[in-house]
Amino acid sequence: MLKVGFIGCGNAAIYLDEDPLKRHFYSHFKPLKILEGKFVIKAAYDPSPDSLSYFCDAAKINPCKSLQDFTRQDLDVVVVTTPTLNHLESIESIKYSTAKVIVCEKPLGLNRYQASQILGIAKEFNKKLYVNYPRRYDVFYENVLNLIHSDALGPLISMIGYTDNSLLMNASHMIDILLWFGGRPLDVKGHLDRQNPPRLVHGELDHGGYALIKHDSGCTSFMKAANTSREKHMFELDLHFEGGRVRLLDDDKSTEQYEWLPSDQHTGMQELKLVKKEFNVDTSQRMIRFYDEIFSNINNPMQDLDPLLDVNFVIDEIYG
Ligand SMILES: NC(=O)c1ccc[n+]([C@@H]2O[C@H](COP(=O)([O-])OP(=O)(O)OC[C@H]3O[C@@H](n4cnc5c(N)ncnc54)[C@H](O)[C@@H]3O)[C@@H](O)[C@H]2O)c1
Repeated sequence: MLKVGFIGCGNAAIYLDEDPLKRHFYSHFKPLKILEGKFVIKAAYDPSPDSLSYFCDAAKINPCKSLQDFTRQDLDVVVVTTPTLNHLESIESIKYSTAKVIVCEKPLGLNRYQASQILGIAKEFNKKLYVNYPRRYDVFYENVLNLIHSDALGPLISMIGYTDNSLLMNASHMIDILLWFGGRPLDVKGHLDRQNPPRLVHGELDHGGYALIKHDSGCTSFMKAANTSREKHMFELDLHFEGGRVRLLDDDKSTEQYEWLPSDQHTGMQELKLVKKEFNVDTSQRMIRFYDEIFSNINNPMQDLDPLLDVNFVIDEIYG
């Protein structure tokens, strides 16, 4: 059984899953409780007494009195759910701890510099590092990745991703999916969204933006992360392959597949026509799959950490 500790006991740690409308788990607490045979929450620290006691009551543990107290605990996994600005100092504080695994909320840092400092700590102190982009563990998106790798529709040529207006908060999930599907970023052109108000997150302005990414697979992607307000949520992708098109709609509720078929309006031409629409019926929870993978890999060698910098690289390039 892996002993888990939390630094930061706010939304991503526990509160997000109190929204009854959510179809997926968004916090770490509930999935870890469901996986109680594999993980046990042993410790938590947060400078906010209210959040700390709420979390510790739910986990039925005694709160750590200080960060020093937390770092002395015997832990296998530390979940870092502090504000992005604090990820580096949180990870710095546990580098000498017993933890073999660090699960860090996304994005890894506010910028590439912070993210690379974190990577340096993980490498030097031999910690496995996971950044929580949960769509990578979602069967819905995994099926699309398998379709890309299968070459059934030919090579992936381009993608468009539509998402929300905050690059570090919500749009970082879209950037990560574009990189997962399209490969590592070779070149990024972009600009900030200056028409709509930026989101204020933990005292930092988080702008929306637009990006054009050239991936190492040869694919090119475009991202629009600019809506008129934070409440307007969107997560949709349009993938163009040499032999067809796939649309991922309504934050993984359905897919549409199109194929080149004879045109009914231009003689001798072909057009992309809808051949299949499927609704997402998968009920496995991606956060459960995420922690299951961490559990299964606990004794495996450390992964290549460098791709974990890529989301911050893309955001830095958009900021210019
Ligand atoms: N994966 C997702 O879907 C998702 C969703 C929301 C937030 N996040 C990420 O989670 C992180 C936290 O965001 P949040 O919305 O939970 O914020 P939050 O403000 O709700 O929670 C952060 C908690 O950290 C505590 N804290 C602040 N400084 C600390 C420190 N130095 N040491 C320990 N605790 C400290 C705060 O008191 C607070 O309780 C961010 O990186 C954010 O991008 C991810």
